[in-house]
Amino acid sequence: MLKKRLAVLASGRGSNFQAIIEKITSGYIPASIALLITNNPDAGAIDIAKVHNIPWQVIVPKDFPDSKSFNDQILKMLIAAKVDYLILAGYLKLIGDQIIDKYENRIINIHPALLPSFGGKGMYGHHVHQAIYDRGVKVSGVTVHLVNKEYDAGPIVLQRCVPIATAKSPDEIAQRVLKIEHELYSQAIKFMVEDRLIINGSRVTIKGETDFD
Ligand code: GRF
Repeated sequence: MLKKRLAVLASGRGSNFQAIIEKITSGYIPASIALLITNNPDAGAIDIAKVHNIPWQVIVPKDFPDSKSFNDQILKMLIAAKVDYLILAGYLKLIGDQIIDKYENRIINIHPALLPSFGGKGMYGHHVHQAIYDRGVKVSGVTVHLVNKEYDAGPIVLQRCVPIATAKSPDEIAQRVLKIEHELYSQAIKFMVEDRLIINGSRVTIKGETDFD
């Protein structure tokens, strides 16, 4: 059987991208990465793609008259690369509706908090951990969810808590959370490419999962 083909969309350093590559190399995730797409020509993720001989494309919004034509071009790239699933890994642009329609329930994202808390517009990267630190939250965590047309509101695939009561700074929260991101994202991607997600409205269950995994 042909391996499922993934596209990774990233805007930053790409540590989740690197973690996914490692889990593919080890055989844990039965897929291949067909393409990296980034909106940021300086993204660290590009260097990671180069090291691993993964095709990469930079596509910059300012080169397009509007968001629709920008996302139309991304869709063309995805189709040309015969991509089966989209993995958002610190991608900071909105995914166009035309892409969500084409890849319904096949686009996944990771958020460094326990959605729906500390999610939504403006809640990305360091802003999340700063808000959590300022609120005095004792437990943060990681959410992996399917992407729909509402920002950070797609069906939740996996979540894991991260104790942060003793964290001395937002950076320390970020470090603790990122470590779990790297583990949880690969697990969720594995389940998705193995077609083990059972999606009922906004609820997702995993074939063969128990609460004590
Ligand atoms: C991660 O914290 C992820 O939760 C968020 O963006 C960050 C990406 O980090 N979506 P990296 O580029 O994967 O290191």
